[in-house]
Amino acid sequence: MLLGLKLLASAFFVNPYLQLGNRPSSSQAGVDVVFQSLNVRPFRVEVNTGDGVWRSAGELKREEVFVKGENSHYVYTASLDGVRNGRTFSYRVWNGNELAFESSGKARPAAGSGYSLILWGDSGSGLPPQVKVAKRVMADQPDGVVITGDLVYDRGRVSEYQKKWFPVYNALPGEATGSPLMASILFMPAPGNHDLLYNDADTDGDLFAYFRYWRVPLNGPVTDASDASAPKLKGSATNISRALSGIPADRYPRAANYSFDFGNSHWTILDSNPYVDWKNPRLQAWVEADLAKAKGMAWRFVAFHHPPFHSSPEHQGDQQMRALHDIFRKHGVKIVFCGHVHNYQRSKPIVSAGTEVAVDNAYDGSKTTQTDGVIYVVTGGGGARLYSPELETQPEKWKPWTAMYSGKFSYTRLKVSADRADVECVSAEDGSVLDRWSVRK
Ligand SMILES: [Fe+2]
Repeated sequence: MLLGLKLLASAFFVNPYLQLGNRPSSSQAGVDVVFQSLNVRPFRVEVNTGDGVWRSAGELKREEVFVKGENSHYVYTASLDGVRNGRTFSYRVWNGNELAFESSGKARPAAGSGYSLILWGDSGSGLPPQVKVAKRVMADQPDGVVITGDLVYDRGRVSEYQKKWFPVYNALPGEATGSPLMASILFMPAPGNHDLLYNDADTDGDLFAYFRYWRVPLNGPVTDASDASAPKLKGSATNISRALSGIPADRYPRAANYSFDFGNSHWTILDSNPYVDWKNPRLQAWVEADLAKAKGMAWRFVAFHHPPFHSSPEHQGDQQMRALHDIFRKHGVKIVFCGHVHNYQRSKPIVSAGTEVAVDNAYDGSKTTQTDGVIYVVTGGGGARLYSPELETQPEKWKPWTAMYSGKFSYTRLKVSADRADVECVSAEDGSVLDRWSVRK
């Protein structure tokens, strides 16, 4: 339950929200609380881990966002280390002696346990369907959310997050702009092209908000800004340095790729933008090692933005992530979640992604639910203008590997237990289930 304390929320530029932080492993307890303010204030954060006692959180860190195109502001991060996985907890933020915010939150599910998770992509459009998704997900109350990229249009800018991200997914209770999701539910992002690819610092001074506002595990393979596979800003040296000022060196560019444990699963989040060379043996070795390390987990899931298999005429040239298919299959990844294409699609289990794409035709998702292929899901109906919705009723135009196509605004529900994953595509308009399927181990 979120006690938004709306009257006092003026202390914040962006209200407090939860983040997984640099905690890749389920053996690590805790979450981060992040919030923003226009001024330096005497903030204090406290946490109640369930025993009724309010304890002071760890050190409050402060980063400056002094960029062209948006109000100067500060991003505060508190580490709630006492929060245990699988538990709910409460936290509150004081502004001096004034209680400014209080909410409950859900920690990451305990190691080995089942959980529910919701995914969508291509969302930060500022259009009405984005808000509809937020309101339905609020009613669903999942244990976590994974966003499959294109978080914020048009160029992932600080000013765009302030208009089209936080008001929708981090609203206060009762606010018409959206829902108070992020105050209590962990969101994990995958970067899309609109987040990291359109990047001229001479034109926009407030790019790369991804690296300012998200707190994710810092365990990815791209650690140096000079790496060819790192997202980079274009423009004059002065403008680039101004646009990057205040971003910690351990977060840019490393946070573009990461992985984390979530209950009985391991999740690998990749930057699928075309500047990343996923044919590079060093990067492939990281993916292999990451998945191999998770061998003991019940499930390994992968999420990134550009879908390697889809049937829409848009973005047919962006299927570069096929380069990793063999590795996914070898390590038992059953489902890969993507966005980029603004609709919902489910592939048949892909067995081979060579010049001939081979699929498992025996799998039907309801009676026959075991497969050693990889199912690729496009869940890009989160709010941006839809792509080729008419194909929904024209299966003769689908690629042979496509099993389902929906041209409606939607999101995807995932429910995971030890031996099965149940998936539903849900209409943002009326909440009806547009596709339902399972994978059994
Ligand atoms: Fe995209």
